Amino acid sequence: MKPVPDAVVLVTGASSGIGLATAVAAARAGFTAVAGVRDPAGATALRETGIDVRKLDVTDAASVAACVEGVVATHGRLDALVNNAGVASAAFTLELSSIDAVRASLEVNFFGVLTMTRAALPHLRAARGRLITVGSVRGVIGQPFNEAYSAAKFAVEGYLEGLAPTLAQLGVAVSVVEPAAVLDTSFVASSPLDPAALLAGAGPYEAAFRAYRGFVAGGAVEGAQTAAEVAAVILAALADPAPPFRIPTSAYAAAYLARKLSDVDGGGVQDLTRSWLT
Ligand SMILES: NC(=O)c1ccc[n+]([C@@H]2O[C@H](COP(=O)([O-])OP(=O)(O)OC[C@H]3O[C@@H](n4cnc5c(N)ncnc54)[C@H](OP(=O)(O)O)[C@@H]3O)[C@@H](O)[C@H]2O)c1
Repeated sequence: MKPVPDAVVLVTGASSGIGLATAVAAARAGFTAVAGVRDPAGATALRETGIDVRKLDVTDAASVAACVEGVVATHGRLDALVNNAGVASAAFTLELSSIDAVRASLEVNFFGVLTMTRAALPHLRAARGRLITVGSVRGVIGQPFNEAYSAAKFAVEGYLEGLAPTLAQLGVAVSVVEPAAVLDTSFVASSPLDPAALLAGAGPYEAAFRAYRGFVAGGAVEGAQTAAEVAAVILAALADPAPPFRIPTSAYAAAYLARKLSDVDGGGVQDLTRSWLT
Protein backbone atom coordinates (compact mmCIF):
# COMPACT_ATOMS: atom_id res chain seq x y z
CA MET A 1 0.00 0.00 0.00
CA LYS A 2 1.39 3.36 -0.96
CA PRO A 3 1.44 6.14 1.69
CA VAL A 4 -0.73 8.57 -0.24
CA PRO A 5 -3.47 10.79 1.21
CA ASP A 6 -6.22 8.81 -0.47
CA ALA A 7 -5.14 5.66 1.41
CA VAL A 8 -7.08 5.69 4.69
CA VAL A 9 -5.71 3.92 7.77
CA LEU A 10 -7.84 3.49 10.92
CA VAL A 11 -5.92 2.77 14.13
CA THR A 12 -7.82 1.58 17.22
CA GLY A 13 -6.69 2.44 20.76
CA ALA A 14 -4.79 5.47 19.51
CA SER A 15 -4.91 7.56 22.70
CA SER A 16 -1.52 6.31 23.92
CA GLY A 17 1.38 3.95 23.35
CA ILE A 18 1.70 1.93 20.15
CA GLY A 19 -1.62 3.15 18.72
CA LEU A 20 -0.74 6.83 19.19
CA ALA A 21 2.72 6.29 17.69
CA THR A 22 1.21 4.38 14.74
CA ALA A 23 -1.42 7.02 13.97
CA VAL A 24 1.20 9.78 14.06
CA ALA A 25 3.69 7.76 11.97
CA ALA A 26 0.99 6.93 9.41
CA ALA A 27 0.03 10.60 9.07
CA ARG A 28 3.68 11.65 8.77
CA ALA A 29 4.26 8.98 6.12
CA GLY A 30 1.49 10.47 3.99
CA PHE A 31 -1.56 8.31 4.75
CA THR A 32 -4.88 9.75 5.85
CA ALA A 33 -4.71 8.53 9.44
CA VAL A 34 -7.82 8.09 11.54
CA ALA A 35 -7.34 7.64 15.28
CA GLY A 36 -9.99 5.70 17.19
CA VAL A 37 -10.06 6.74 20.87
CA ARG A 38 -12.47 6.21 23.72
CA ASP A 39 -12.22 9.82 24.88
CA PRO A 40 -11.86 12.26 21.95
CA ALA A 41 -11.82 15.24 24.34
CA GLY A 42 -8.48 14.03 25.71
CA ALA A 43 -6.89 13.62 22.27
CA THR A 44 -5.57 17.14 21.82
CA ALA A 45 -2.07 16.03 20.77
CA LEU A 46 -3.54 13.91 17.97
CA ARG A 47 -5.79 16.72 16.82
CA GLU A 48 -2.88 19.16 16.77
CA THR A 49 -1.14 16.95 14.22
CA GLY A 50 -4.22 17.18 11.98
CA ILE A 51 -5.23 13.56 12.49
CA ASP A 52 -8.93 12.72 12.18
CA VAL A 53 -9.92 11.64 15.71
CA ARG A 54 -13.01 9.47 16.12
CA LYS A 55 -14.77 8.15 19.21
CA LEU A 56 -14.37 4.38 19.38
CA ASP A 57 -14.92 1.74 22.03
CA VAL A 58 -14.13 -1.64 20.47
CA THR A 59 -16.37 -3.44 22.99
CA ASP A 60 -19.43 -1.48 21.85
CA ALA A 61 -20.86 -2.72 18.54
CA ALA A 62 -22.76 0.54 17.95
CA SER A 63 -19.60 2.59 18.53
CA VAL A 64 -17.64 0.34 16.16
CA ALA A 65 -20.27 0.60 13.42
CA ALA A 66 -20.58 4.39 13.82
CA CYS A 67 -16.81 4.84 13.66
CA VAL A 68 -16.22 2.66 10.60
CA GLU A 69 -19.21 4.00 8.69
CA GLY A 70 -18.25 7.55 9.67
CA VAL A 71 -14.72 7.08 8.32
CA VAL A 72 -16.06 5.79 5.00
CA ALA A 73 -18.68 8.57 4.83
CA THR A 74 -15.99 11.22 5.33
CA HIS A 75 -13.09 9.77 3.35
CA GLY A 76 -14.90 7.56 0.84
CA ARG A 77 -12.91 4.43 1.66
CA LEU A 78 -10.99 2.43 4.25
CA ASP A 79 -7.74 0.84 3.09
CA ALA A 80 -6.28 -0.49 6.33
CA LEU A 81 -7.42 -1.33 9.82
CA VAL A 82 -4.83 -1.51 12.57
CA ASN A 83 -6.42 -3.42 15.46
CA ASN A 84 -4.27 -2.12 18.29
CA ALA A 85 -6.62 -1.53 21.25
CA GLY A 86 -5.81 -3.89 24.08
CA VAL A 87 -5.63 -4.19 27.84
CA ALA A 88 -3.17 -5.89 30.14
CA SER A 89 -4.13 -9.09 31.90
CA ALA A 90 -7.27 -8.33 33.84
CA ALA A 91 -6.98 -11.50 35.86
CA PHE A 92 -4.46 -13.27 38.07
CA THR A 93 -4.14 -17.05 37.84
CA LEU A 94 -7.64 -17.83 36.70
CA GLU A 95 -8.61 -20.23 39.48
CA LEU A 96 -8.49 -17.25 41.84
CA SER A 97 -10.09 -14.73 39.49
CA SER A 98 -13.68 -14.03 38.73
CA ILE A 99 -14.97 -15.24 35.40
CA ASP A 100 -16.14 -11.67 34.82
CA ALA A 101 -12.53 -10.44 34.98
CA VAL A 102 -11.53 -13.00 32.36
CA ARG A 103 -14.45 -12.07 30.14
CA ALA A 104 -13.45 -8.39 30.42
CA SER A 105 -9.99 -9.20 29.04
CA LEU A 106 -11.43 -11.21 26.16
CA GLU A 107 -14.02 -8.49 25.43
CA VAL A 108 -11.32 -6.01 24.49
CA ASN A 109 -8.44 -8.21 23.39
CA PHE A 110 -10.38 -10.73 21.30
CA PHE A 111 -14.00 -9.71 20.73
CA GLY A 112 -12.88 -6.12 20.13
CA VAL A 113 -10.63 -7.33 17.31
CA LEU A 114 -13.42 -9.50 15.93
CA THR A 115 -16.05 -6.74 16.05
CA MET A 116 -13.75 -4.20 14.40
CA THR A 117 -12.66 -6.65 11.73
CA ARG A 118 -16.22 -7.64 10.83
CA ALA A 119 -17.23 -3.99 10.47
CA ALA A 120 -14.18 -3.07 8.39
CA LEU A 121 -14.01 -6.08 6.07
CA PRO A 122 -16.49 -4.96 3.39
CA HIS A 123 -14.45 -1.78 2.98
CA LEU A 124 -11.07 -3.53 3.15
CA ARG A 125 -12.24 -5.94 0.46
CA ALA A 126 -13.40 -3.04 -1.71
CA ALA A 127 -9.99 -1.40 -1.32
CA ARG A 128 -8.04 -4.68 -1.56
CA GLY A 129 -6.49 -3.36 1.61
CA ARG A 130 -4.76 -4.47 4.79
CA LEU A 131 -5.76 -5.94 8.13
CA ILE A 132 -3.01 -5.55 10.70
CA THR A 133 -3.52 -6.59 14.31
CA VAL A 134 -1.22 -6.03 17.26
CA GLY A 135 -0.85 -9.39 18.94
CA SER A 136 1.92 -10.29 21.34
CA VAL A 137 4.61 -12.89 21.81
CA ARG A 138 2.31 -13.89 24.70
CA GLY A 139 -0.19 -14.94 22.03
CA VAL A 140 2.23 -17.69 21.00
CA ILE A 141 3.87 -18.59 24.31
CA GLY A 142 1.54 -18.62 27.29
CA GLN A 143 2.81 -16.49 30.17
CA PRO A 144 2.32 -17.46 33.85
CA PHE A 145 -0.03 -15.12 35.71
CA ASN A 146 -1.15 -13.71 32.34
CA GLU A 147 -3.47 -16.57 31.46
CA ALA A 148 -6.42 -14.42 30.43
CA TYR A 149 -4.23 -12.16 28.29
CA SER A 150 -2.48 -15.10 26.62
CA ALA A 151 -5.81 -16.85 26.03
CA ALA A 152 -7.17 -13.73 24.32
CA LYS A 153 -4.06 -13.18 22.18
CA PHE A 154 -3.96 -16.89 21.23
CA ALA A 155 -7.59 -16.48 20.13
CA VAL A 156 -6.58 -13.50 18.00
CA GLU A 157 -3.85 -15.58 16.35
CA GLY A 158 -6.16 -18.51 15.66
CA TYR A 159 -8.92 -16.32 14.26
CA LEU A 160 -6.62 -14.39 11.95
CA GLU A 161 -4.51 -17.36 10.88
CA GLY A 162 -7.73 -19.05 9.82
CA LEU A 163 -9.03 -15.94 8.04
CA ALA A 164 -5.81 -15.00 6.24
CA PRO A 165 -5.88 -17.49 3.33
CA THR A 166 -9.52 -16.67 2.55
CA LEU A 167 -8.90 -12.94 2.51
CA ALA A 168 -5.72 -13.38 0.49
CA GLN A 169 -7.90 -14.69 -2.36
CA LEU A 170 -9.81 -11.40 -2.22
CA GLY A 171 -6.72 -9.22 -2.15
CA VAL A 172 -6.67 -8.37 1.56
CA ALA A 173 -3.40 -9.10 3.37
CA VAL A 174 -3.69 -10.16 7.03
CA SER A 175 -0.83 -9.74 9.49
CA VAL A 176 -0.35 -10.05 13.23
CA VAL A 177 2.40 -7.83 14.60
CA GLU A 178 4.02 -9.39 17.66
CA PRO A 179 6.00 -7.24 20.09
CA ALA A 180 7.71 -8.49 23.22
CA ALA A 181 7.89 -5.83 25.99
CA VAL A 182 7.14 -2.23 25.04
CA LEU A 183 7.85 0.01 28.00
CA ASP A 184 6.87 3.58 27.06
CA THR A 185 3.13 2.90 26.90
CA SER A 186 0.25 3.02 29.39
CA PHE A 187 -0.13 -0.75 29.25
CA VAL A 188 1.12 -1.69 32.73
CA ALA A 189 -0.08 1.51 34.43
CA SER A 190 -3.61 0.90 33.08
CA SER A 191 -3.72 -2.64 34.46
CA PRO A 192 -6.37 -3.06 37.14
CA LEU A 193 -4.16 -5.47 39.08
CA ASP A 194 -2.74 -4.64 42.50
CA PRO A 195 0.32 -6.91 43.01
CA ALA A 196 0.34 -6.45 46.80
CA ALA A 197 -3.31 -7.49 47.11
CA LEU A 198 -2.74 -10.41 44.76
CA LEU A 199 0.22 -11.61 46.77
CA ALA A 200 -1.80 -11.44 49.96
CA GLY A 201 -4.48 -13.66 48.40
CA ALA A 202 -2.21 -15.94 46.38
CA GLY A 203 -2.59 -18.96 48.66
CA PRO A 204 -0.81 -21.99 47.14
CA TYR A 205 0.56 -19.82 44.34
CA GLU A 206 2.39 -17.36 46.60
CA ALA A 207 5.89 -18.74 46.01
CA ALA A 208 5.37 -18.93 42.25
CA PHE A 209 3.93 -15.42 42.16
CA ARG A 210 6.83 -14.01 44.19
CA ALA A 211 9.30 -15.67 41.80
CA TYR A 212 7.39 -14.36 38.80
CA ARG A 213 7.40 -10.81 40.16
CA GLY A 214 11.16 -11.12 40.62
CA PHE A 215 11.55 -12.38 37.06
CA VAL A 216 9.53 -9.45 35.72
CA ALA A 217 11.47 -6.91 37.78
CA GLY A 218 14.83 -8.45 36.93
CA GLY A 219 14.82 -9.49 33.34
CA ALA A 220 11.54 -9.53 31.49
CA VAL A 221 12.32 -6.17 29.93
CA GLU A 222 15.13 -7.79 27.97
CA GLY A 223 14.66 -6.93 24.31
CA ALA A 224 12.23 -4.14 25.16
CA GLN A 225 11.24 -1.70 22.45
CA THR A 226 9.67 1.71 22.26
CA ALA A 227 6.19 2.36 20.89
CA ALA A 228 7.77 4.28 18.02
CA GLU A 229 9.87 1.24 17.06
CA VAL A 230 6.77 -0.95 16.98
CA ALA A 231 4.92 1.71 14.98
CA ALA A 232 7.75 1.66 12.42
CA VAL A 233 7.23 -2.09 12.00
CA ILE A 234 3.50 -1.54 11.47
CA LEU A 235 4.22 1.16 8.88
CA ALA A 236 6.61 -1.21 7.09
CA ALA A 237 3.88 -3.87 7.04
CA LEU A 238 1.46 -1.34 5.52
CA ALA A 239 3.93 -0.55 2.76
CA ASP A 240 5.08 -4.15 2.15
CA PRO A 241 3.50 -5.49 -1.07
CA ALA A 242 3.30 -8.99 0.48
CA PRO A 243 3.56 -8.78 4.28
CA PRO A 244 4.06 -12.03 6.21
CA PHE A 245 1.23 -13.33 8.39
CA ARG A 246 3.24 -13.11 11.60
CA ILE A 247 5.58 -10.16 12.13
CA PRO A 248 7.78 -10.20 15.24
CA THR A 249 8.78 -6.59 15.89
CA SER A 250 12.43 -7.26 16.78
CA ALA A 251 15.12 -9.90 16.55
CA TYR A 252 14.44 -10.58 20.25
CA ALA A 253 10.73 -11.18 19.58
CA ALA A 254 11.57 -13.42 16.60
CA ALA A 255 13.95 -15.53 18.72
CA TYR A 256 11.31 -15.74 21.46
CA LEU A 257 8.70 -17.05 19.00
CA ALA A 258 11.23 -19.48 17.53
CA ARG A 259 11.37 -21.26 20.89
CA LYS A 260 7.94 -22.60 20.02
CA LEU A 261 7.42 -22.10 16.30
CA SER A 262 9.36 -23.51 13.37
CA ASP A 263 7.25 -21.32 11.07
CA VAL A 264 7.91 -17.95 12.72
CA ASP A 265 6.41 -15.75 10.00
CA GLY A 266 3.52 -18.15 9.35
CA GLY A 267 4.40 -18.52 5.66
CA GLY A 268 4.47 -22.32 5.78
CA VAL A 269 0.98 -22.53 7.28
CA GLN A 270 -0.34 -19.95 4.80
CA ASP A 271 1.08 -21.94 1.85
CA LEU A 272 -0.64 -25.05 3.21
CA THR A 273 -4.03 -23.51 3.97
CA ARG A 274 -4.12 -21.41 0.78
CA SER A 275 -3.64 -24.63 -1.19
CA TRP A 276 -6.94 -25.90 0.27
CA LEU A 277 -8.81 -22.97 -1.29
CA THR A 278 -7.79 -23.34 -4.93
N1 LIG B 1 3.19 -2.76 26.10
C1 LIG B 1 3.57 -4.01 25.86
O1 LIG B 1 4.52 -4.53 26.51
C2 LIG B 1 2.91 -4.82 24.77
C3 LIG B 1 3.55 -5.97 24.33
C4 LIG B 1 2.96 -6.74 23.33
C5 LIG B 1 1.74 -6.34 22.81
N2 LIG B 1 1.13 -5.22 23.27
C6 LIG B 1 -0.16 -4.86 22.66
O2 LIG B 1 -0.04 -3.58 22.08
C7 LIG B 1 -1.33 -2.98 21.99
C8 LIG B 1 -1.24 -1.53 22.48
O3 LIG B 1 -0.84 -1.53 23.82
P1 LIG B 1 0.13 -0.41 24.42
O4 LIG B 1 1.30 -1.12 25.01
O5 LIG B 1 0.35 0.69 23.45
O6 LIG B 1 -0.74 0.06 25.69
P2 LIG B 1 -1.57 1.39 25.99
O7 LIG B 1 -0.71 2.60 25.90
O8 LIG B 1 -2.28 1.10 27.26
O9 LIG B 1 -2.62 1.45 24.79
C9 LIG B 1 -3.79 0.68 24.75
C10 LIG B 1 -4.84 1.44 24.01
O10 LIG B 1 -6.02 0.62 23.93
C11 LIG B 1 -7.11 1.44 24.25
N3 LIG B 1 -8.27 0.71 24.72
C12 LIG B 1 -8.41 -0.04 25.85
N4 LIG B 1 -9.66 -0.52 25.93
C13 LIG B 1 -10.32 -0.08 24.81
C14 LIG B 1 -11.63 -0.21 24.32
N5 LIG B 1 -12.57 -0.93 24.97
N6 LIG B 1 -11.96 0.38 23.13
C15 LIG B 1 -11.04 1.11 22.46
N7 LIG B 1 -9.79 1.31 22.90
C16 LIG B 1 -9.44 0.71 24.05
C17 LIG B 1 -6.60 2.42 25.28
O11 LIG B 1 -7.48 3.53 25.34
P3 LIG B 1 -7.79 4.36 26.69
O12 LIG B 1 -6.73 5.41 26.74
O13 LIG B 1 -9.15 4.91 26.46
O14 LIG B 1 -7.72 3.38 27.84
C18 LIG B 1 -5.25 2.75 24.67
O15 LIG B 1 -5.39 3.73 23.68
C19 LIG B 1 -2.26 -3.87 22.81
O16 LIG B 1 -3.03 -4.68 21.93
C20 LIG B 1 -1.31 -4.72 23.62
O17 LIG B 1 -1.87 -5.98 23.95
C21 LIG B 1 1.69 -4.45 24.23
